[in-house]
Amino acid sequence: MARRAREFGDAMARRRTVRDFSDRPVPREVVEAAIRTAGTAPSGAHKQPWHFVLVGDVELKRRIREAAEGEERENYERRMPPEWLDDLEPLGTDWHKPFLTVCPWLVVVFAELWSPGPDGGRKKHYYVQESVGIAVGLLLASLHVSGLATLTHTPSPMRFLHRLLGRPNHERAFMLVAVGYPAEGCRVPDLCRKPLEEILTVHAARSGQNPLDGGGDWPNSSGPQGIG
Ligand SMILES: Cc1cc2nc3c(=O)[nH]c(=O)nc-3n(C[C@H](O)[C@H](O)[C@H](O)COP(=O)(O)O)c2cc1C
Repeated sequence: MARRAREFGDAMARRRTVRDFSDRPVPREVVEAAIRTAGTAPSGAHKQPWHFVLVGDVELKRRIREAAEGEERENYERRMPPEWLDDLEPLGTDWHKPFLTVCPWLVVVFAELWSPGPDGGRKKHYYVQESVGIAVGLLLASLHVSGLATLTHTPSPMRFLHRLLGRPNHERAFMLVAVGYPAEGCRVPDLCRKPLEEILTVHAARSGQNPLDGGGDWPNSSGPQGIG
């Protein structure tokens, strides 16, 4: 169990956000499988408040890029405060977003704020942001273990995605995930991830409180069985 957790962790630690993509084609079924995985995410009251739009159409990608670069140009040149620009400096990003047309696929993730009821009313959704965030996490993990690179992109405000993709009123664009292979010679920022000690606080059972500590509380000597 510990080995599998470690191996999965090692594989996930190799995921990096890529911003320089190749135009090498990616089979649609791989991205669809990842979206199916994203759809297994837990969600508040099992409302599954997500919708994924998969875009490979060249003209649509061009229009998305044009609109995203328009918003991002405003962001970088006018809307972002100096502190935000300073935080972005090490990533080397600017308003140019060539990956939006170079990548073979864009997955645009929409959050369903509510769902239309049969009587025309609104059926409530719960913890929408949390649920869709987990779904995107599974999407990224699946694409990564499939051997693909991703970029989580948030060209805010993202209303243009709603308009360009003709989505209904109860959906809001949540995230744009560019998917593909890294470009030849692609480089990523030299980032450090916080060590476990910094992100974890443990209040473990004290000796004797937890049968797994070997306290002998289990009726038979072998204790609980793992699930293999
Ligand atoms: C919610 C969210 C929004 C992000 N938006 C952007 C973005 O618009 N453009 C971009 O280049 N990277 C974006 N990123 C990527 C982060 O910069 C990246 O995850 C971070 O620098 C850590 O690098 P890593 O993913 O390689 O570990 C975003 C990431 C998240 C989680």
